[in-house]
Amino acid sequence: MERPVPYRFGAPVYRPWFCDREAELDVLCSRMRAGIHLIVLSPRRYGKTSLLLQAADILERDGVHSAYANLLLATTEVELASIILQAVVRSVLGPVARRRHSLEDALRHLRITPKVSVGPDGAVSLGLDPAVVGTSWVDVITDAVALLERASVRRSAVLVFDEFQVVAGIGRRGVGGAFKALADAARRTSLVFSGSHLAIMEQLTKGSGAPLHGMGERVVLDVVPEDPMAGYLQRRARSAGKTLPKPVAREIYAQAGTVPNYVQQLAQAALEAADAADAATITPAHVAAGFDTVVERQSAVYAQQYEDLGGAPAQQRILRTLARTPTASVYAKGFLDAVHVANANAVTTALRVLDNRELVTRRGSTWHVADPFLRRWLTAQSPAI
Ligand SMILES: Nc1ncnc2c1ncn2[C@@H]1O[C@H](COP(=O)(O)OP(=O)(O)OP(=O)(O)O)[C@@H](O)[C@H]1O
Ligand SMILES: [Mg+2]
Repeated sequence: MERPVPYRFGAPVYRPWFCDREAELDVLCSRMRAGIHLIVLSPRRYGKTSLLLQAADILERDGVHSAYANLLLATTEVELASIILQAVVRSVLGPVARRRHSLEDALRHLRITPKVSVGPDGAVSLGLDPAVVGTSWVDVITDAVALLERASVRRSAVLVFDEFQVVAGIGRRGVGGAFKALADAARRTSLVFSGSHLAIMEQLTKGSGAPLHGMGERVVLDVVPEDPMAGYLQRRARSAGKTLPKPVAREIYAQAGTVPNYVQQLAQAALEAADAADAATITPAHVAAGFDTVVERQSAVYAQQYEDLGGAPAQQRILRTLARTPTASVYAKGFLDAVHVANANAVTTALRVLDNRELVTRRGSTWHVADPFLRRWLTAQSPAI
């Protein structure tokens, strides 16, 4: 049998690539079981989706229905509604091989009937006709929650909205308010609002006037701490027949900016460098070589991202400056001088754009370039500036 790859990155992970998060899973599962709404936030690549899927898995084993809707691709209210309805119907039906309900049963109580197609593998796809739905898209998602609740007799259910920040860009002024009504109407369903654009998620969920203010418990996800993550790296290296000494695992963790996705990516690259050298033990030299390889492989993408800021040289300068020195003092005179901008307002505007593009992120009060490999690429391009 082929051995599974030691490390995984770029997509949600499950065990054995999912480590730690015991405390977060406890909180999430207990709130979900109690039908309490949750707001889950973190910068990109910290592991929100993996965590939510893991929690859903645990609850599913206890018979709690959970539906997972990824809103990322939705651009209109009707698309939003059909993604949510499809997620709920799929969850209520259960796996193709062990259907819990018939499709007719599931669709019977819906006020707006979707177009249904069934793939060769039995997977159900639903579409909604915008002309038919009109302004009734809220009825569609309300009916979806009702369907989930009917299917979960005497239990609570879970409905996850991943990439929830998308709703802020739909319609003329965002459609967050519709979810407030949904949250009020959901009696036995824990609605989970998860998203990564922190500034947008905060506008939706925090402070008076925010549509989802006070709607549920906020869970701000941090990185996986060093100890469990380093232990995980060592175990996975062993599974691939390599030794990863603890100090080297810690170095991978630090160099990857402690973000789970990048930690796994760097670990994989270091392991491949050790493999190429026929070495049984992964050394700091392999980590350095692995780091270079990742930067090199992605340099075209980084060049494009940098070029895309071309109309706004202040943004480019701020990005370069933060790559060299992460800083909390973005309004101090020294920083304004370094990035050649006239005033604090210009910095605020530029940082907002960089933040929305998820090129920079704030940890505590310090602004960083979000991707450690991009950070290296930027400093390598501009040593003298
Ligand atoms: N618990 C974990 N243990 C180990 N690695 C993890 C864990 N959670 C996430 N990762 C790493 O982070 C990567 C991204 O995870 P995931 O897609 O869940 O993050 P996310 O926060 O949902 O990202 P995005 O905001 O881009 O949707 C995974 O491929 C994996 O490498
Ligand atoms: Mg995600």
